[in-house]
Amino acid sequence: MKIIELEEVDSTNEYCKRVDCGEDIIVVAKRQSKGKGTKGRSFVSDKGGLYLSVMRHYENFKAENAFKIMVNSCVAVCKTLESFGVRPQIRWANDVLADGKKICGTLIENTFSGGKVTRSIVGIGININNQIPSYLRHIAGAIAEITGKYTPIEEVFDVLVKNLEKEFSIDDYKSYMGWLGSKVLIKTDDKEVEAEALDITSNGLLKVNWGGNMLEISSAEVSLRLK
Ligand code: BTN
Repeated sequence: MKIIELEEVDSTNEYCKRVDCGEDIIVVAKRQSKGKGTKGRSFVSDKGGLYLSVMRHYENFKAENAFKIMVNSCVAVCKTLESFGVRPQIRWANDVLADGKKICGTLIENTFSGGKVTRSIVGIGININNQIPSYLRHIAGAIAEITGKYTPIEEVFDVLVKNLEKEFSIDDYKSYMGWLGSKVLIKTDDKEVEAEALDITSNGLLKVNWGGNMLEISSAEVSLRLK
């Protein structure tokens, strides 16, 4: 796949959308001035981290299988982190943590038409050697902080790109969720409730037991806090 390397960009996801002429590409930037997170949040993207987007086009990808894109990306990130001495954990649906702190976020922007995914842009941001701003230090970490050594960004990029070519299963995804079967905190805009996390469905919903009620919830509606 063609790789476009940039010194600085607003957001690698936005760049993909601007240049899209039907070709599959990877865009990687040293920093982003307007990094985007999920749910309209921003993503701090200072120099020293890895910020990339993979844009792919599909002819026959059923919309009902869209969660596979999340599975493949999150597992690819976890496998990559393992090769750099980090023990990753997935916080459903799209965050990867280590030592209880977020070190990677994924923003997947899919385009749908006629019940199919026609284009996916998988944006991945990994904190590597970048300094985490003090106001985020209680929730975010970086590879170098965890391993105690400088980690070349290009090496992480190369391993990640290879892993992103592979196919993974939902069981692989679940294998990084040691917290399934335990109590978690489910946060909506105005409240936070405790529930037992039971499973992940094939279309990416989280099954929980909330006070005896079995619910299947979507990551678009809630966020998760691991206990
Ligand atoms: C999140 O944690 O909410 C998702 C963060 C996704 C960040 C990556 S960095 C590369 C790509 N470009 C963006 O603007 N966002 C994603």
